[in-house]
Amino acid sequence: MGKLGLGLAVGCAVASCAIAAVMVGRRVRSRRRWWRVVRAVDEFEEAALTPVGRLKQVVDAMAVEMHAGLASEGGSKLKMLLTFVDSLPDGSESGIYYALHVGGTYFRILRIQLGGQKSILGHDVERKPIPQHLMTRTSEEFFDFIALSLKEFVERTGNNSQYSQGKDLGFTFSFPVKQTSLSSGTLIKWTKGFSIDDMVEKDVVECLQRALSRRGLDMNVAALVNDSVGTLAVGHFYDKDTVAAIVIGTGTNACYLERADAVIKCQGLLTTSGGMVINMEWGNFWSSHLPRTSYDIDLDAESHNSNDQGFEKMISGLYLGDIVRRVICKMSLVSDIFGPFSSKLSTQFALSTPLMAAMHEDDTPDLSEVAKILEETLDIHDVPLKARKLVVKVCDVVTRRAARLAAAGIVGILKKIGRDGTGGITSGRVKGVKSGKMRRTVVAVEGGLYTSYTVFREYLNEAVAEILGEEIAPYVILKEMEDGSGIGAALLAASNSARSVDTVQVL
Ligand code: BGC
Repeated sequence: MGKLGLGLAVGCAVASCAIAAVMVGRRVRSRRRWWRVVRAVDEFEEAALTPVGRLKQVVDAMAVEMHAGLASEGGSKLKMLLTFVDSLPDGSESGIYYALHVGGTYFRILRIQLGGQKSILGHDVERKPIPQHLMTRTSEEFFDFIALSLKEFVERTGNNSQYSQGKDLGFTFSFPVKQTSLSSGTLIKWTKGFSIDDMVEKDVVECLQRALSRRGLDMNVAALVNDSVGTLAVGHFYDKDTVAAIVIGTGTNACYLERADAVIKCQGLLTTSGGMVINMEWGNFWSSHLPRTSYDIDLDAESHNSNDQGFEKMISGLYLGDIVRRVICKMSLVSDIFGPFSSKLSTQFALSTPLMAAMHEDDTPDLSEVAKILEETLDIHDVPLKARKLVVKVCDVVTRRAARLAAAGIVGILKKIGRDGTGGITSGRVKGVKSGKMRRTVVAVEGGLYTSYTVFREYLNEAVAEILGEEIAPYVILKEMEDGSGIGAALLAASNSARSVDTVQVL
């Protein structure tokens, strides 16, 4: 080989080494970037862990806060509000009633014909989205829209003779309200993205009643109820062992049947039944035992109600998609696995919870649904399969934590009322039964996260059983209530309008 040939051979060898070195360098860098993403997800998973020991701490904290909220006004972040519902429907209700449910992105109008003996003979429902702009305007505009929709519904569904029977209306208003009777109460604050400022501290029934008169609708609001209370009412209508209800939809809440004498902050509370349903407003529950991550802190700081509704922000439908969006945003910042940074990733609420659930439940072998949602919703294209798998993992971590925390909340209520099996013979066990057999306890559950998101429901049910243990768990039944809150309001309107005397007195 001549000098030229040797030079060429050496040159080629050097060039190939250089190319190989560049390629190896790229691969190393890309692997490093991948590991940075994996680390971000691992750190999130670690911070969001809910082992059963931690859940039991949340159970105890919930029970303690319930006591504190009942002991004094402002004694806890749990408001533990009186509902003036002292007895629950038993199936004997009859007649035609209307109900309105305002509380999330949709509102519902119902017309129900009750036939006694636990029968619902007729049931018409209409679901309408609440125009976004009305959520932040004036109370008059808001209630006018509702009254008009109700009027159109009444005209459509009730012929005149039926309408003349069905003048009583149950009003489910799913926000914190300080009730002054079963059919009156003032709004304490807005949640779930609503902020009609002139409504705060106003009587919501008066606002609705005035709007109904403006529309020439002669109807009477016979019961004002929180959605959790409506759910409890309908749960009890079908099954008298129902003692508590929870809602996990856009927002979250719980209520339960308490002894009137346990409501220490209201010393002069007398009820014919000796009991009172308490609206806990558990969305505002807080405890240092909650596994809070940096994403939750940011979400809260950027919300219009920061330092409020902490539990709700970890559990409910308005927020879960947004937590996932925040983690994907971080993943995209530490690496280029999602390609160039998409501005959608920094847009609040760009990923809704139903879409997050659809990614989580994607069972196609190549996760094509995940790819489609990332593309169409977050403007992220050509995501490799291994990155799509990580996205599913993030959805799983967020959903699992939410469901398990809700489960701990439920067991916290059971603990407070002695139905978790830890109080021994005197509490959760049937009085007078020597064997100490546990009482059957039913918790009614409403809200899309539980009723339509299978993985969420399974995680929640599983965690309730895990916390209670195999001896007690079979006695606690979670029952799904479709449309419970609306029907429940109609049922409470029915029982209230049938009453001739007040059964609740606050002396
Ligand atoms: C409200 C509750 C309501 C819950 C579920 C929360 O944001 O404060 O009153 O029951 O959402 O709709």
